Amino acid sequence: MLYLYLIPCPKWALRGSVLQSTFVIVDFAKGALSMEQHQFLLDPKLLPRKWYNIAADLGEAPPPPLNAQTRQPADPGDLSPIFCDRIIEQEVSSERWIDIPEEVLDALAMWRPTPLYRATRLERALGTPAKIFYKYEGTSPAGSHKPNTAVPQAYYNKISGIKRLATETGAGQWGSSLSLACEMFGLECMVYMVKCSYTQKPYRRSMMQAWGGTVCASPSERTEYGRKVLAEDPNCPGSLGIAISEAIEDTVTTPNTKYSLGSVANHVLLHQTIIGQEAKLQMEQAGAYPDVVIGCVGGGSNFAGIAFPFLQDKLSGKAECLRALAVEPASCPTLTKGEYTYDFGDTAQMTPLFMMYSLGSQFVPPSIHAGGLRYHGMAPLVSFAHHMGLTEAVAYTQTSIFSAAIQFARTEGIIPAPESSHAIRAAIDEALKAKETGESKTILFNLSGHGNFDMAAYDAYLAGELIDG
Ligand SMILES: Cc1ncc(COP(=O)(O)O)c(C=O)c1O
Repeated sequence: MLYLYLIPCPKWALRGSVLQSTFVIVDFAKGALSMEQHQFLLDPKLLPRKWYNIAADLGEAPPPPLNAQTRQPADPGDLSPIFCDRIIEQEVSSERWIDIPEEVLDALAMWRPTPLYRATRLERALGTPAKIFYKYEGTSPAGSHKPNTAVPQAYYNKISGIKRLATETGAGQWGSSLSLACEMFGLECMVYMVKCSYTQKPYRRSMMQAWGGTVCASPSERTEYGRKVLAEDPNCPGSLGIAISEAIEDTVTTPNTKYSLGSVANHVLLHQTIIGQEAKLQMEQAGAYPDVVIGCVGGGSNFAGIAFPFLQDKLSGKAECLRALAVEPASCPTLTKGEYTYDFGDTAQMTPLFMMYSLGSQFVPPSIHAGGLRYHGMAPLVSFAHHMGLTEAVAYTQTSIFSAAIQFARTEGIIPAPESSHAIRAAIDEALKAKETGESKTILFNLSGHGNFDMAAYDAYLAGELIDG
């Protein structure tokens, strides 16, 4: 029997469109055509105009960073050799909402709001009753969530009279994002790229150069610390901790230069909350609210970006049962196996001490392809939320995340970044648990970036050559 439905304008349906509406023909005898909407796009006018600072809602202040020499709480002045004042203000702020400057909104609006998708094809392939949604950050020019903070960081440094930024990059997503943002605001950009990623992802280097950045493999001969590491181990694959040390040394020894960090710091997490704020509006459009919000964690910024605005609801009692799940590599298990302790953010121990989950600042993780997750520590705000019991964590091996990545690519089409594939693995496992229990669960994950520059890793996986480090 054929039924003719008139429904409000979803783009995906079979069209016999009248004004703002669309006809959908459903044959219940043969089985209904899918009525599920796949894309939830936000009106650009609804681009969030403020960042959300979870520190205002945690009930107690997270333990402060300590000055490494005095072991006393660091004061904002301790940060001024590396950050400009406007960034430091945000780093220590306890204001709940912080205005996004017009110039930053104007640049973010080049690709934001980003789409939210319902993974209907993946759901069908899994045979799960769960609804799976994902927020896709891979539509930015650099292909990930990283430009969300690169843009404001470049902007604040520009208006503070800084001429050059130095930074580290793991997978190259952050280095390319900062190169782009520096180009937008007329700053020079120097990137220390972790050596194993420098070799694995040559086209990420090309992107940085195309956007005017300078890039070298870390450990490098450019800094005293890099030379020391190379003297001890000429084959050192590098790590984010080592690259951060080199970028900080570069910053404090080069005039008119400040340091820019792609994750971990409070201000970076703050800038990423634009993701979760948009996702909340889009979930509302979809008539759904997540039972679980999932993100991969390197330093913690994309996870915080999607989860913190939802955790605001949990903290206020509006969504007491909401779960927030952080996903990490088994070979760098910071939240699942690390200790909650004061530790340095870098390997040369040049930063203040941060209270965070850490595997130790000297830990050099195996050279997995998810280079952006090879960090020994975790953002102090994510660590504090985890310590309070607000979040959960799980760790997966490299081969298990690539099998999830392939299943996702073959159902949803997008080839995900190896980092983001950790979140996909966890989302699939949550959906499979729902299948076992028959629970109609709503899952939301952050697809933090595409993997179009990670094809060497996919080649290795498909050839059966990937090992679990
Ligand atoms: C695509 C992608 N996702 C996630 C991460 C991890 O960083 P964070 O934990 O700060 O989001 C990176 C880091 O480079 C990345 O490139």
